[in-house]
Amino acid sequence: MTKKILITGGAGFIGSHVVRRMVTKYPQYHIYNLDKLTYAGNLKNLTDIEDKPNYTFIKGDIVDEEFIMKLFEDYKFDGVIHLAAESHVDRSISNPNAFIYANINGTVNLLNAFRHIWSDNFAEKLFYHISTDEVYGSLGETGFFTEDTAYDPRSPYSASKASSDHLVRAYQHTFNLPTVISNCSNNYGAYQFPEKLIPLAINNIKNNKTIPVYGKGENIRDWLWVNDHAAAIDLIFHKGRVGETYNIGGNNEWKNIDLIRLLCNIMDEKLGREKGASSKLITFVKDRAGHDMRYAIDSSKIQQELGWTPSVDFEQGLRNTVDWYLENEQWLKDVTSGAYQNYYKDQYDNR
Ligand code: NAD
Ligand code: DAU
Repeated sequence: MTKKILITGGAGFIGSHVVRRMVTKYPQYHIYNLDKLTYAGNLKNLTDIEDKPNYTFIKGDIVDEEFIMKLFEDYKFDGVIHLAAESHVDRSISNPNAFIYANINGTVNLLNAFRHIWSDNFAEKLFYHISTDEVYGSLGETGFFTEDTAYDPRSPYSASKASSDHLVRAYQHTFNLPTVISNCSNNYGAYQFPEKLIPLAINNIKNNKTIPVYGKGENIRDWLWVNDHAAAIDLIFHKGRVGETYNIGGNNEWKNIDLIRLLCNIMDEKLGREKGASSKLITFVKDRAGHDMRYAIDSSKIQQELGWTPSVDFEQGLRNTVDWYLENEQWLKDVTSGAYQNYYKDQYDNR
């Protein structure tokens, strides 16, 4: 029997990689991609699989309670992989409410609808919630986030994601909803919207614009290739233990400024510029409010329990990512025209 799997946020960066993987690898599933198509959602991320017989796109908002309830009643999804969210920290600083609605209310609507259609009879069903390492707060120079690290979210974005994680666990505890959660570190790769550090820097370097580095560029992130995250999601969806949390990370910590310098060198090479030309674009700007200093994930649980491991060396992954953005000039032009220009002005002018 065909399983009906709902993937929310499938037109976004990570979601599009997850949808592609599930549609092509599991012809026995029917994959429904529910996405509101906010500024971050783009059906051009999925043109290669949009005609597959086991794929359906549904435009809709997870915040719309009635719509979500009816959708679940109509389709009776066996599984949910929930990625839809407002995802950019800087936007959560300028407009926190959007994050509360989408990330908290939207998640509760999905939990309620899933519970309702199965009437607490959940055999072979799963609600998989995709979360972030930012719920754990900020690390000092040492240590790693484990699955037992206490939550300490420090931005409206991470607080909204932490709330949604708590709600998922509460539904599991109170209503026996079969849930699983994963918390991942920073992703990079093709189709990432150029508000996030790596594609923003690639786009600016290409266009000879300054690269805005917040503060002194000393903040540290743990970078993971997006397809490795999609592979981990696939594994957890199929083999993860119900009720558990899995941390996913690249074991790959970089200070922002070191990452940007590496990216500048790669861009010089790819664009045939003199060595050092792109790094002249680096500009230190006013820091992000409440900027978390360091994230680092201990992913030993998923490695030991499910045999997952990151597959791509970071420098190679970054080179491939640069190639993708240079080869997909039209995609980049399309997403950076119109509203993006206003966003950029609001965020970076006078910074
Ligand atoms: P993204 O911003 O690229 O995509 C989000 C998608 O969700 C978009 O397609 C958007 O249209 C859709 N969406 C937003 N609000 C919606 C709503 N109300 N109803 C329906 N669809 C809606 O985000 P991303 O970077 O791909 O992140 C996906 C998920 O993974 C998020 O839950 C995020 O918190 C989590 N995550 C991201 C990272 C990362 O590095 N990007 C790391 C760990 C976890
Ligand atoms: O850790 C996982 C999280 O990673 C995800 O949950 C979020 O959805 C995702 O956006 C990402 O959050 P970050 O805030 O770490 O990512 P961002 O790309 O915005 O920034 C990475 C680092 O670079 C961070 O320290 C801030 C800094 N930065 C960012 C931008 C956009 C700059 O210095 N300049 C910039 O212009």
